[in-house]
Amino acid sequence: MILLDGKETALKVKNTIKEAVTKHKGNGQRVPNLIAVLVGDNKASLSYVKSKVKACDMVGFDSSLIHLETIITEKQLLDLVQKLNNDTAVDGYIVQLPLPKHIDENKILLAINPAKDVDGFHPINIGKLALNLDTIIPATPYGIITLLQEYNIETTSKNVVVIGRSNIVGRPMSILLSQNKPYGNATVTLAHSRTKNLKEITQKADIIIAAIGKAHFITADMIKENAVIIDVGINSIPDASRKRGYRLVGDVDFANVSQKVSFITPVPGGVGPMTIAMLLKNTLHVYEKRIGMSIS
Ligand code: GUN
Repeated sequence: MILLDGKETALKVKNTIKEAVTKHKGNGQRVPNLIAVLVGDNKASLSYVKSKVKACDMVGFDSSLIHLETIITEKQLLDLVQKLNNDTAVDGYIVQLPLPKHIDENKILLAINPAKDVDGFHPINIGKLALNLDTIIPATPYGIITLLQEYNIETTSKNVVVIGRSNIVGRPMSILLSQNKPYGNATVTLAHSRTKNLKEITQKADIIIAAIGKAHFITADMIKENAVIIDVGINSIPDASRKRGYRLVGDVDFANVSQKVSFITPVPGGVGPMTIAMLLKNTLHVYEKRIGMSIS
């Protein structure tokens, strides 16, 4: 069994980005600027956006976190989105999801300038992805493809089962893997909460991508020998032995599943760091488009 080391692979990606930023600076250019918007005080979201801002520092980007109270109105958030769209000093920005229930997520995503949408969530960018046109690829699926590439895990003609049909992970992942291009060309099954006989489906999978959000959902009996397992889940479960009283686990029962597989991502240290690295890569990409110069 080989661990797919997302931490190390993400570091490689970030070092390449850092080198590109240094070159741009050497050419007298400003540095890329990424803004993260967070509404409310969801602990997990706060931790994610802080990691994103910290990663910006590491590669030499300018970045800041705009943290708004849960009670902000939809109109106020739309006004902020307009302000960021118009701010020429901002290359890209993200609005961390989920948003509070009184704010229509789709309305917000639709208002983001697609050229600054470094999450790749705008309908125009998702539409381009579906049509295999040049676009901004959502960071988590992009990170998973990069990790497969790093470990030379072929996807062509493989049976891939993606579990979870979210707009952020499962849906774009299924599109990418079915495209006619390197690290695509797979036969993709997109399974979800209404899928019947999931075990029969996963047992035939060469590669499983678990993005369900349920701790230890994928068990050893559900997979075939030597399968490749990508665990997108980050679930908090009570753990009295930890000072903080909980620990983070994936959607996969790692202890048992890892005995059977050829490759598997750990949680933490698998997909999570890759998501952040690819967000930075997307930001560098939109920045280079804006300044009309690419060295990466
Ligand atoms: N919530 C969970 N993952 C993400 C992500 O990649 N981007 C944003 N904006 N929100 C998220």
